[in-house]
Amino acid sequence: MDDKLEQLRQQAVETFQAAADEEQLEQARIEYLGRHGQLREIMKDLGSVSPELRPALGKLANQVSREVEQAFAQRQEQIAAQVASQEAEAIDVTLPGRAPRVGKQHPLLATLEEMIEIFLGLGFTVVEGPDVENYYYSFEALNYPELHPAMDEQMTFYISDNALLRSQTSPVQIRVMEQQQPPVRIVAPGRCFRRDTVDATHCHTFYQLEGLLVDEGVTFADLKGTLEVFAREMFGPQCHMRFRPDFFPFTEPSAEIALTCIICGGEGCRVCGNTGWLEVGGSGMVDPNVLAGVGYDTETYTGYAFGVGVERLAMLRHGIDDIRLFYTGDMRFLQQF
Ligand code: DAH
Repeated sequence: MDDKLEQLRQQAVETFQAAADEEQLEQARIEYLGRHGQLREIMKDLGSVSPELRPALGKLANQVSREVEQAFAQRQEQIAAQVASQEAEAIDVTLPGRAPRVGKQHPLLATLEEMIEIFLGLGFTVVEGPDVENYYYSFEALNYPELHPAMDEQMTFYISDNALLRSQTSPVQIRVMEQQQPPVRIVAPGRCFRRDTVDATHCHTFYQLEGLLVDEGVTFADLKGTLEVFAREMFGPQCHMRFRPDFFPFTEPSAEIALTCIICGGEGCRVCGNTGWLEVGGSGMVDPNVLAGVGYDTETYTGYAFGVGVERLAMLRHGIDDIRLFYTGDMRFLQQF
């Protein structure tokens, strides 16, 4: 009888522990602890044991019974916990789906593309030139006098004596004209580099959109009219453009381009320094020296050119007061567009 109880204890505990789920556990419970289970059967036999042995055996039987019940309860708890955690991990099909994060265009690129779109509508095509330029395209072909300050190491990043990070997109004008005869009608977007100290309105790397049109009979009025149309398309009919005399080696005459400050509508504010105008670029009639340099007949052809700062326009468009926000990659800023 002793042995039987001992065996039962071992078997029952092992079986409970091995039960993989509620169903198996319940089967095991019926087998060992049920009304017709093994434990009851042994208890029944106790009646036929001699009275001297009965108390000791009874005690052992009770102890075994307690242990087996404990083993069952313990496994029951474990299985319940397992089920609960599985349910927690399960997919709830009634929850709304998780949308993938879709990226969007950087405000600078969006502005540039809008600018390009307007010029495409005016019959211009898009070309690109290299970020790393040589001395000839950067300065010589653009009619810079020797020792012009723009060539200074203080203004321009040199890679070697003859290779530099372009400080403007104007070299693309030369590359295009070398490749084709007039009529030329192109815009050239791209990155430019200057040794500027970074502040709210300057950065060592920035974007320009260059424009060039060469044909027979092109006048200053064409330049002004084209840029007026551009300004209105970009900023609406209330936006006006101001031309003021300026100087660039590759244009003659040259003009600074300013637009009505759209922050204050031309009333004068902090952003425009109370003038009501914001300078956005330069322009002019292509200097005949430049045309002659690429072999164009300067008696037949005239042209205009312009270069506009993309950051400036993007800042105007969105009321952004610090150029550095474009380059820091701060999602709090970028997500607003
Ligand atoms: N390249 C000039 C600059 O970066 C801007 C400019 C002025 C471009 C006159 C032109 C132009 O094409 O004709 O300041």
